[in-house]
Amino acid sequence: MKEINLSTKIAVYPLEECSEAEKKLIEAAKSATERAYVPYSGFSVGSAVLLGNGEIVSGSNQENAAYPSGLCAERTTVFYANSSFPEEKVVAIAVAAFHKGAFTSDVITPCGACRQVLLETENRFHSPMRVLMYSEKGVYVVNSIKDLLPLSFGDEMLK
Ligand code: THU
Repeated sequence: MKEINLSTKIAVYPLEECSEAEKKLIEAAKSATERAYVPYSGFSVGSAVLLGNGEIVSGSNQENAAYPSGLCAERTTVFYANSSFPEEKVVAIAVAAFHKGAFTSDVITPCGACRQVLLETENRFHSPMRVLMYSEKGVYVVNSIKDLLPLSFGDEMLK
């Protein structure tokens, strides 16, 4: 028997130490929480992506009375970005959540299904995506969604 150790390094930045471009992306994610449709959970998630052409696209979670028909903010945003700008890679994504009257003090991290979709986007454009996970206490940053999805399943396995 042997063991394989998987480890992930996450950089934790105070917001002030983020670059101006990153602060702008985080602001876009935070303001997108205002457009969430969350009558069931009351948990408003916003995300924003920076595209290769410099454009910022944002989105929010959209819930549904038939619960599984709703969609997370990250997938809403990336699907919209990819369908509007199919030639543009996604350089970075920021995610923020607003709950019970305040932005969360713990970071909001993409759910498993969103990680899989973000991985597909990275693979599609052959370009890693920086992931900025916002909280009032600080911002977790990884340089690729692969850091959040070890042993992932991707297109290369279908070859
Ligand atoms: N949600 C997101 O939009 N993104 C995440 O990363 C985690 C969860 C949404 C789904 C649902 O509308 C609400 O948050 C509560 O789970």
